[in-house]
Amino acid sequence: FKVPDIANEPMRAYGPGSPERKGLQEAIAQMEKELPFEVPCIVNGKPVKTGKLAKQPIPSDHAKHLCTYHEADQATVAAAIDGALAAKAEWEAMPWSDRAAIFLKAADLVSGKYRYKLMAATIFGQGKNAWQAEIDAAAELTDFLRFGVRYVEELYSIQPPKNTAGSWNRLEYRALEGFVFAVSPFNFTAIGGNLVATPALVGNTVVWKPSPAATYSNYIVYKIFEEAGVPPGVIQFVPGSPVEVCAQVLAHPNFAALHFTGSTFVFKKLWKDVAANIDTYRSYPRLVGETGGKNFHLVHRSAEVKNAVMQSVRGAFEYQGQKCSALSRLYISESLWNNGFKEQLLNEVAKLKVGPTQEWTSFIGPVIGRPAYDKITSYIQKAKEAGGEVLIGGSGDDSKGYFVQPTVILTKDPKSVTIVEEIFGPVLTVFVYDDDDWEKTLELIDTTSPYSLTGSIFATERKALLQATNKLRNAAGNVYYNEKCTGAVVGQQPFGGARASGTNDKAGSMAIFYRFVSARSIKENF
Ligand code: SER
Repeated sequence: FKVPDIANEPMRAYGPGSPERKGLQEAIAQMEKELPFEVPCIVNGKPVKTGKLAKQPIPSDHAKHLCTYHEADQATVAAAIDGALAAKAEWEAMPWSDRAAIFLKAADLVSGKYRYKLMAATIFGQGKNAWQAEIDAAAELTDFLRFGVRYVEELYSIQPPKNTAGSWNRLEYRALEGFVFAVSPFNFTAIGGNLVATPALVGNTVVWKPSPAATYSNYIVYKIFEEAGVPPGVIQFVPGSPVEVCAQVLAHPNFAALHFTGSTFVFKKLWKDVAANIDTYRSYPRLVGETGGKNFHLVHRSAEVKNAVMQSVRGAFEYQGQKCSALSRLYISESLWNNGFKEQLLNEVAKLKVGPTQEWTSFIGPVIGRPAYDKITSYIQKAKEAGGEVLIGGSGDDSKGYFVQPTVILTKDPKSVTIVEEIFGPVLTVFVYDDDDWEKTLELIDTTSPYSLTGSIFATERKALLQATNKLRNAAGNVYYNEKCTGAVVGQQPFGGARASGTNDKAGSMAIFYRFVSARSIKENF
């Protein structure tokens, strides 16, 4: 069979009076009326209420919570793993066309029936505004599922190019032996769905631990998979304490792979746990992780100023700087900085409205929670103490929700703390370089931070683009010319970085599917 033609899910504009704005508004109002929700663990398709309760707060109004969820205890995690192992044979043996049909149906449910509900959960729980929720929970999730099916078709068709006379060689792409463990982040609802769907599409069963701060939207994604026809046991939903759940899962002899998106610190910790358990495993586990970033814009003296300003504002401040790809260090030529760039940048940042994202006028919503708020504001403080100049913003208000003003810090120290360390919030640090120091600046960008996720180069001179691209060969896994460093599109810009940013297996491409199969060569003589 041939997978149907696919295209990226068209984005809706949500203009005033549009049917999509009305639809989303109704979903938001409905959710507000019904919350808080109760979320169980799901083991073998059945809800499990452990009674070990935790809350997912609403970051724009922390006195309220979106859901109360049951944390998986040891018995629940053990049952989830056993169930995943038991469900594996039938799921893997299911004709590939049926697995494809299930996930294509899930994509239709995301883009249609559940679009606004999923977006509303992302708006309330994760603090995205409508447009950011559309990019994530509607468009990107749909794309991951549809393109995923297409990539698996492509993978399965890759066969040895040569057969000697009288023989036939083929490659069979088995699912991994054991189960896959998916650990997903708060910042993209789509990533949760993708961390699970990617291994499941190629016949794996998956134990899924969502981020506590995205429990409710991820639960809706789980329910969509179920409605689309994923059989009981194939995906086990186990929200819970990251430390306890991870330790237990990684100690299991049939642990076959980790599919992770989150912080560098946690990924390294899990990697060390895997190393400590290595003698207990049946196979070498596959470790696939997308982690931190310290993403840059480099603006050459030949750049078009207005575009570089607008792209920098969007790259740094959309979703409060909480995308793994978000811009956080800006290197700008002195001649441009002094000839309009600074003024335009500050004017644009001053226009950004901060507030609850359930309201249509807010560009900047809350940051995800108390630890994030404290971390971001303490970085601003540290930058000031180290001699950084706060050009705009610099304060927060956590009285009702976790709001941080969009902040621009100017530093003369190219190794200052906010230019080196990941903050994960609406803080942009600017370093102004002498136009004559272009090459020195390339060296700086390459050596300043341990990360290597995304970066953009702004220049109209082709030579400058080329020089920077060559010199920064290992400084980013996703590079953009004259455009912001966020917003990779599934099927168009495979996403991921190396160094401390991850294993660079490229989400949204065929490459990542290789990590979740174990090929078998079969030779037959006639
Ligand atoms: N893929 C997203 C982006 O490129 C980040 O996770 O912005």
